[in-house]
Amino acid sequence: MNFDLEISKKGNLSIGGADATHLAQEYGTPLYVIDENRIRDNYRRVYRAFSQHYKDFQIFYACKANTNLSVMRILEEEGSGIDAVSPGEIYTSLLTGFNPQRILFTGNNVKDDEMEFTVESGVRLNLDSISQLKRLAKIVDPDGFKISFRVNPMVGAGHHEHCITGGEMSKFGIMEKEAVEVYKMAQKLGFDPVGIHTHIGSGILDPEPFKLAVTTLMDIAGDISENAGVKFEFIDFGGGLGIPYSPDEQILDIETFAKEITGLFKDKLAHYNLGKPTMCIEPGRYIVGDASYLLTRVNTVKQSYRKFVGVDAGFNTLLRPSMYGSYHHIVLANKPLAESVEKLDIAGNVCESGDLFARDRTLPELEEGDLIAIMNAGAYAFSMASQYNSRPRPAEVLVKNGEIDLIRERETIADVLNKQIIPTRLLNKSKKN
Ligand code: LLP
Repeated sequence: MNFDLEISKKGNLSIGGADATHLAQEYGTPLYVIDENRIRDNYRRVYRAFSQHYKDFQIFYACKANTNLSVMRILEEEGSGIDAVSPGEIYTSLLTGFNPQRILFTGNNVKDDEMEFTVESGVRLNLDSISQLKRLAKIVDPDGFKISFRVNPMVGAGHHEHCITGGEMSKFGIMEKEAVEVYKMAQKLGFDPVGIHTHIGSGILDPEPFKLAVTTLMDIAGDISENAGVKFEFIDFGGGLGIPYSPDEQILDIETFAKEITGLFKDKLAHYNLGKPTMCIEPGRYIVGDASYLLTRVNTVKQSYRKFVGVDAGFNTLLRPSMYGSYHHIVLANKPLAESVEKLDIAGNVCESGDLFARDRTLPELEEGDLIAIMNAGAYAFSMASQYNSRPRPAEVLVKNGEIDLIRERETIADVLNKQIIPTRLLNKSKKN
C-alpha cells in the first residue's frame, strides 16, 4: 500500500504488469483496472496480522466495497467470509461460491421478504433492531435459531460525517443501554443469540477510536454474558480500517493495530470469562481500495477563470470526490514521471458543478489525449457508480502479472434504457409535431 508507481517498458504507468495506455486503447475509457495480486496481498496481510495473535479469527469481506464477481471469487479462494447488506449481495456471494454459514447479513431497515430470503439461503442474520427481531420470530421457528445483534457502542469514527456509524446520530444497531434486555427478549422468544457485532464507521486511520470500540463492545458482551447467560460463538468488530488516499496520509500499521486489538480482546475474554469465540472483522476498503485504478482520458483543456482539464469520466463513474470531498491521487498514466508544474482542476463530464475529481491539484502539464489514472478506486467506486446523465457504466479489467482479462463489459445505451416501459397512450405521435 504505497504511492510508488510501476513503470512499463514504454515508460507508461503499469498496473499489475499491464501498460495502462495499452489497456485504455484496447478497452476504451473510462476503465477500471483491478490488480489481482494487490487484493490477495491485502487480504493475506490482514489475516496474518490478526491470526498470529488469535487463532480463531475470521474476515468477513464487506462486499459493498466491490461486488465484482471476479473480486468475490479471489476472496473466496483466499478463505474470506462475507459481510452482506442486501439480498443482492447475498445472491452474489452464493453465486461466487461462499459457504452460506460464512455470510453474515447485517441489514438496516430490513423487510420481511429480505429476511425470508436470508433464512432460505442459510445465511446468518445479524439483527439491527427490536422490530426486526419481532418480525423474524414470525418468519422462522425461533427455537434454537442462531442470531446476533449489531450494537451501537456510542463510539463513532470515519473519514466523513456520512461514514460515522456509531453514536447518538447513527441509525444503526441497538442501543448499548438496551443490549442486555434485547438479548433476554431474544431468548424469551426462543432464539439462540450467539453473536455480537458493531461497526463504528469507515475510513479510520487512527487506531484509538477502534480500540475504544473494541473495549466497549467487549464490556457490553461481558454484561450480556453475566446477565443474560449468553455464550458467544463470535464477536465481530466490523470494518473501517482506512487506507491513505494521499501520500501525506499515514498508513495504518496493521501489525501493531492487530496486536493491540487482539490484546484488548483477549484481556476482556479472560476478564469476563467469555471462552474462545471466533473473532471477526469486516474490512472492505482495506482489501480492495488500493487494488484498482480508474483510467480516464483528457478530452478538453479549457482556460476559463481557472484552468479546467476535462476528462471522460464523472461522478457517475466515481462518486467519492463529489459526495465526500474525498481526495484521490491522480497520475499522468502516459508520463507518470513528469514533474508536477501547475495547479489545475480535473473536471468530469457530468452536468453539475460539483463534478470535479480534483480542485487546485498540482499536476504535470496536461494535454488533450493524455491518459489520467485515478488511484485507490477499488472500494466504493464501481459499486457506487450510476447511469446519471444517461451514461453507461464503464468496463472493468482484471490484471495479474501482465495477464489481462475483461471482467465486465462496458454498458451500452440500451442498458441505460433497460426495463423502461412507455405506456401505449404515450406512444401516439404528438399532435404538436
Ligand atoms: N461492516 C459494515 C456493517 C459496514 O457498514 C461497512 C461499511 C463495512 C463493514 C466496511 O467498511 P470499510 O472497511 O470498507 O471501511 N461509501 C463510503 C464508505 C461507506 C461504508 C459503509 N459501510 C466511502 O466511499 O468512503
